[in-house]
Amino acid sequence: MNDHDTAGTASTVSGTAEAARARMAADLRARSRALSEPIQAAFATVPRHLFVPEVGPSAAYRDEAFVIKCGPDGIPISSSSQPAMMAIMLEQLDLRAGHRVLEIGTGSGYNAALISVITAPRGKVVSIDIDLELVERARSSLAAAGFSDVEVRCADGGYGDPAGAPFDRVVVTAGVWDIAPAWFAQLADGGRLVLPLSVRGIELSVGLQRAGVGWHSTSACRCGFVRMLGAFAGPQAALRLDGEEPLIALISDGAAADVSAVIAALAGRVVDLPTGLAVTDQSELGDLDLWLTVTEPQLDRLTVLSPVTGRVTPQPLLPLGGLLSDATDPEHLGIATLLPGTGGGHSVDVAVRGYGPGGLALAEHLAARARWWHKLGRPGAADIRLNVYPAGTGAELAAGMVMLDRPSARIAVGWPDRG
Ligand SMILES: C[S@@+](CC[C@H](N)C(=O)[O-])C[C@H]1O[C@@H](n2cnc3c(N)ncnc32)[C@H](O)[C@@H]1O
Repeated sequence: MNDHDTAGTASTVSGTAEAARARMAADLRARSRALSEPIQAAFATVPRHLFVPEVGPSAAYRDEAFVIKCGPDGIPISSSSQPAMMAIMLEQLDLRAGHRVLEIGTGSGYNAALISVITAPRGKVVSIDIDLELVERARSSLAAAGFSDVEVRCADGGYGDPAGAPFDRVVVTAGVWDIAPAWFAQLADGGRLVLPLSVRGIELSVGLQRAGVGWHSTSACRCGFVRMLGAFAGPQAALRLDGEEPLIALISDGAAADVSAVIAALAGRVVDLPTGLAVTDQSELGDLDLWLTVTEPQLDRLTVLSPVTGRVTPQPLLPLGGLLSDATDPEHLGIATLLPGTGGGHSVDVAVRGYGPGGLALAEHLAARARWWHKLGRPGAADIRLNVYPAGTGAELAAGMVMLDRPSARIAVGWPDRG
């Protein structure tokens, strides 16, 4: 290939990428009227294709997450997150020009570059990843895209960056189960922490701001991230179910499950019970799923994923994961999941599908609870409240809230006074 050809190919790639980038930024704006101008401008500016070169200059601007590294068990350990989800978290952060920002979970480096654009001029971004190979990859992508001023460090982000503190904002882009004390300690007065937090197996992106001795949520929205590793990692919650298909089950809070009983229950007879309710979209069904998961703390949550094939992120096989009633007693095991039906018009009926010997009883119970959720006005992610306190503090629990005790934090979660 001569020099002329090389230049021609490079300019075709950059033209394709530029057009796709402009489309992605416009689509994000069209889908979310609340998307602020600086965030849209950042998506229109940062060349994502330089951060995920493996997917090509056009596909890089799809509103999709791309897995960029898997562990030896085939479970993804790093991905470039879905742009629509990144936009939500950037809004939750409420970034301003000049902010000093700490990101935990550099991954591809794309989010760090977006933050660098939004906080310019005079802003500062420090990004930490625990994986050296990813740190080196992100450093070289950031340099290629003209963001050499973003500082990328290889360390366990659970300890933050004491030398760079205080920060105006801390954002975590790996799924957390515990809340590392360094993140709060390294925030300046008026600072904000945004992180994907596991709430009994459902992940919520939560914005937190100081309120007295604790931290109160400013917003929450459902999300799905690869799990955080290192000193503050949650209990290993993934099991490989070696049934006919190699399924992966994620069980909330590391509850032990009898794997063969789970496989047998999922492969056996099912019973579908109508709830008598209809929902307008997936997010309303997600609200019911969240409410049941939080308000039924005696049940364990089980998420069943299809196998990881190539670069595809695993998808839940069951519509929204399941609720597992008694994980230790195969004789009475019941599993239930919400099942959107086929209603006409703008809404679909909701049923509860039960599996296993205890499946019918569990489905009946959850169908009744679903009707109660409706009577309460359908509480969901938009109005859930989370109050976080240091571990060991005696915190008051309002009616309608449950306490999740983690090694470093006490997390009160729920819908106060809507029991
Ligand atoms: C979803 S990816 C981050 C996406 C990234 N922000 C981007 O724009 O591409 C999560 C990252 O968190 C990293 N990670 C996991 N545990 C960590 C820890 N304890 N400290 C720092 N990084 C961690 C993983 O290596 C992975 O790269």
